[in-house]
Amino acid sequence: MDRNTAPEAARVIRSLRGMPASDGAGVKLTRVIGNPELDMLDPFLMLDEFGTDRAEDYIAGFPSHPHRGFETVTYMLDGRMRHKDNHGNEGLLVPGSVQWMTAGRGLVHSEMPEQQEGRMRGFQLWVNLPASAKMTDPRYQEFAPDSIPVTAPARGVAVKVIAGVVPDAGGAPVRGPIEQPATEPLYLDIALEPGAEWAYALPDGHNAFAYVFEGDAVVGEGDDARPLATHELGVLGGGDLFVVRGGAQGARLILVAGRPLREPVARYGPFVMNTREQVMQAFVDFQEGRF
Ligand code: FE2
Repeated sequence: MDRNTAPEAARVIRSLRGMPASDGAGVKLTRVIGNPELDMLDPFLMLDEFGTDRAEDYIAGFPSHPHRGFETVTYMLDGRMRHKDNHGNEGLLVPGSVQWMTAGRGLVHSEMPEQQEGRMRGFQLWVNLPASAKMTDPRYQEFAPDSIPVTAPARGVAVKVIAGVVPDAGGAPVRGPIEQPATEPLYLDIALEPGAEWAYALPDGHNAFAYVFEGDAVVGEGDDARPLATHELGVLGGGDLFVVRGGAQGARLILVAGRPLREPVARYGPFVMNTREQVMQAFVDFQEGRF
């Protein structure tokens, strides 16, 4: 192999665990990105993991609230959540489904559990939009579990491709259904059997992270290999080849990457703009019913 062109393995340049948080009308969750320890990872503004069997932790849901200037991505693992917005859009998120919502210039919506008991588990990721797209029309990309492709690129490895492209075992591209040219996101749900290994070339120049939500995994190669335990996030760097191996119990993790926007970020709650003035304007527009 030509050492000059061999892709370098990415390593975990930083690892952290999320912090307990409460949002909406009192939903208990873990804030993994968007906390004092990791403010953001351009273009990702926030990552929340929610996971509980206790109805009192989620039942209050997320009543009516606005968003402007970015995208919210909800990936359900367990449970059912109904969303409704002020433009007449409504839908039910079921286990394994994904909703990629481009808030753009703004909408007001609610996200409420459609169950009284049982398990609720999943992720919400916030993805920033560039200045040129912050005031676009709101848009939904919503996919049922059976319309999200799953591939087995290596033995003991199953990859659900929500966004981005993954070569299957024969090298043919498997494409996720989400389209977002602004940040060209990658969003994979990876299941590894114990000891199973996979190497994947990350999109060039993207910021990337891996978050383990079941079992444990080892990320990186040789001396740079590092274990990630359940509920541990690894920020990746130093190379574009993501090399991962399932631990003794196997693992399930999300691998997320996006092209950084490198723009100023002015955020206040559900409004994420480029300047403070634009955030103030968002407040005024929301209060005057222009969402
Ligand atoms: Fe929301």
